[in-house]
Amino acid sequence: MIKADYSEIASYYDKGRTLTEKNLMMWLDLVAKFSRASAGAKVLDLGCGTGRFSLPMAARLGFDMTGVDSSAEMLVKAMEKDSNFNVRWILGDAQALAFPAGSFEIAFMSHLLHHCNHPPMVLKECYRVLVPSGIILIRYGTMDQIRNDAEHTFFPEAVEIDQQRIFSRERLEKWLLDAGFVDISSQEIMQQTYKTGAAHLDAARAKSTSVLSMISEESFQAGLRRLEDHVAGNPNDKWLLCDRMTLTLGRKSKFA
Ligand SMILES: C[S@@+](CC[C@H](N)C(=O)[O-])C[C@H]1O[C@@H](n2cnc3c(N)ncnc32)[C@H](O)[C@@H]1O
Repeated sequence: MIKADYSEIASYYDKGRTLTEKNLMMWLDLVAKFSRASAGAKVLDLGCGTGRFSLPMAARLGFDMTGVDSSAEMLVKAMEKDSNFNVRWILGDAQALAFPAGSFEIAFMSHLLHHCNHPPMVLKECYRVLVPSGIILIRYGTMDQIRNDAEHTFFPEAVEIDQQRIFSRERLEKWLLDAGFVDISSQEIMQQTYKTGAAHLDAARAKSTSVLSMISEESFQAGLRRLEDHVAGNPNDKWLLCDRMTLTLGRKSKFA
């Protein structure tokens, strides 16, 4: 399977992936609600990237944050934003974590697993490094949720790539069960990502999702032209504004 190159993507990742204050608060509230963790909790953000979630989880929820990512370039971008040294940034592979068992109360990840060769290994590692009763929270999009979005409608080559790497909610829940997690549940979350169609177009120009960096430049430019035409003809199209995502959680048994 071809891989997104985050050493390259790091230079423009934040441009295409802004989180509005409203969306950030929504995700922080969900994390706080489902984890029931309070300030000081030891939290792991796996595939933390440029710190989109690790930094506000530290600053606003008061979590004792560790961010792990396999891309040095993404971590450099995260560190540049962490002027108060709120987060411990670690270069590493989510499939083989360098932490002893029982190191964290929460393991969080956003849009990580489809980049990994062995997603079940990541979940087994999370199980190992969580304390008994520790919570895993996984934020991602399923094929059902992304197939009809603008990035797949106007960039059909993206569908072929994502069909190979994106997994279903049922598959993820089975992996979690196999890793030993209990109380597994999932919810669909609707997020208004963009205020206008033009903002969505700007994000697509900045290759807002990794799959746009994995198609040929020719396909990318052709898709952009289709999206530009659509936005020009339908400037108020609400379909362009929202994304559907899934949040799946599980718990390590208290007897583990
Ligand atoms: C789509 S980005 C998500 C970044 C961040 N979680 C967010 O939501 O903004 C995926 C991240 O996973 C990282 N990654 C990919 N494979 C990894 C692995 N095996 N172990 C750790 N990080 C990995 C990439 O370097 C990249 O930073």
